[in-house]
Amino acid sequence: MKLAVVSVVVLLVIFVSWPVSAYQKDSPGGGGYGGDEEHDTNLWFPLDNLLSLSYYDKICPDFEKIVDTKVREWTKTDPSLGPALLRLLFHDCGVTGCDASVLLDHEGSERRSPASKTLRGFELIDDIKAELEKSCRGLVSCADILVAASRDATYQLKGPYWPNAYGRRDSKTSYARDVEKVPSGRRDVTALLETFQSYGLNILDLVVLSGAHTIGKANCGTIQSRLYNFNGTSESDPSINPELADYLRRKCRWASETVDLDVKTPVTFDNQYYINLKNHEGVLTTDQELLKDPRTAPLVDAFATQPSHMFRQQFAVSMAKLVNVGVITGEDRIGEIRKVCSKSNSKH
Ligand code: HEM
Repeated sequence: MKLAVVSVVVLLVIFVSWPVSAYQKDSPGGGGYGGDEEHDTNLWFPLDNLLSLSYYDKICPDFEKIVDTKVREWTKTDPSLGPALLRLLFHDCGVTGCDASVLLDHEGSERRSPASKTLRGFELIDDIKAELEKSCRGLVSCADILVAASRDATYQLKGPYWPNAYGRRDSKTSYARDVEKVPSGRRDVTALLETFQSYGLNILDLVVLSGAHTIGKANCGTIQSRLYNFNGTSESDPSINPELADYLRRKCRWASETVDLDVKTPVTFDNQYYINLKNHEGVLTTDQELLKDPRTAPLVDAFATQPSHMFRQQFAVSMAKLVNVGVITGEDRIGEIRKVCSKSNSKH
């Protein structure tokens, strides 16, 4: 076991010391391809099917500033929107890729499925889009807005920063039935791994991105089956620390109540989530499962024992991968730049 932990730590050091920019150069759709005046790669490289770090530099130079300001304004009034945005992005990228399909609001769309009921942050994205339409009409996709806004929200919560490459197009369709691709809170690690592998992500990405649960809340309805009559036993899930189970039962008398996902430092983007898992204080079944499974337990252990910045740096690397999942780009031609994020242009 000791050997496994040591090798995981070595692995982590390699991953963590691998800069985000290095990853992006190698990955499809990664940044750095925009080309500057001196090295205009446009001449020989099929640029229009790739995302680029400089995509908006000329066509909408204030894009990131506008997004950042709006996110700041909205989260100042309602700080819970920060975590909500990060989750909304995962639910976009996790279903047919980062194409803003989660934002479409019509009968039978992902957003109308019961599993999306607790997603939030739509109005904030709509407001950013409306502002951008004033200065950059028809140029900025809703998918790029969601990617930028959730990065800024994470950073504003003192989480890590990662450079985003842009140039995504928006999907024209969205189907509620596809939402089952996003993992619910009751899967085992094998199912979670399969889902992440289907995104092109690996076991390290799974453990690191689950660390997003260092901020934000769960609805009590989501965890009630852990608290009462677990597997028909009339007891709580035995993998919850009994004191935490007591606390959660008191907090969760109503399904509509919410509880912090990180019970110790709920508004700080740190590695406390992993320490909690080691103390059997994970709130979601899927979180606590990461400690039970021998494939993920050494990684949980490593993030719990290493300084917080190890987790934060790797989180940035894994997020830079997540935001490239299944993007629609210029060459694909199947997407569009929506005028309003909740409606496809053809539905106007
Ligand atoms: C590994 C698979 C994952 C599962 C099974 C999962 C499941 C869940 C569940 C059940 C909730 C509570 C929802 C509710 O009760 O309303 C939640 C909340 C949240 N999730 Fe995940 N999640 C996963 C991965 C991720 C990833 C990859 C991210 C982002 C990178 C993320 C970010 C969040 C955030 C920030 C919240 C809190 C939202 C809020 O406060 O509004 N999750 N997640």
